[in-house]
Amino acid sequence: METKADNIFLIGFMGVGKSTIAKCFNHMRGMEVVEMDQIIAEDNGMSIPAIFEIHGEEYFRNQETELLRQMQGRTNVVISCGGGVPMRESNVEEMRKSGKIILLTAKPETILERVKDNHDRPLLENNKTVEGISELLNKRKEKYEKAADLIINTDNKIAVEICEEIIDRLRKL
Ligand code: S3P
Repeated sequence: METKADNIFLIGFMGVGKSTIAKCFNHMRGMEVVEMDQIIAEDNGMSIPAIFEIHGEEYFRNQETELLRQMQGRTNVVISCGGGVPMRESNVEEMRKSGKIILLTAKPETILERVKDNHDRPLLENNKTVEGISELLNKRKEKYEKAADLIINTDNKIAVEICEEIIDRLRKL
């Protein structure tokens, strides 16, 4: 019987903790981490804001799709996805082929607290208010939830706790 690859795709809005939880899976489970933004920035030799500025958002989204395709054939990898990845249906199909999709969530207030001093996210640069974050979050919510095999809230939880919750709930799927 063919077994599906056991990768984990962490999805969700900017600042929900995808990168932190990916690192936790690396420590707890020895899974290799793929940090999508970091790889795209390295491949292009420039920061994410510079990619948006010079090449435009569409170019960046195509880079995300291409990187996801490269995950086929990989196993035991935890992928920290950029927050916009599940907005493309084809990206969701690609993720489903090689693993489980975990949606991390947090309140807009928590997200604001986590992103307020960071300048690497062009879509938030002029939107760093609870209202701005809530508006974009509401536009995306349906697609995030539709894509997810599991939904995990991260408010007031530490990384290890979240990781253990994911492992436990994945076992019961
Ligand atoms: C984006 C999220 C960012 C990055 C880019 C766009 C988005 O990644 O890919 O700034 O559209 O939500 P993180 O979710 O890792 O911050």
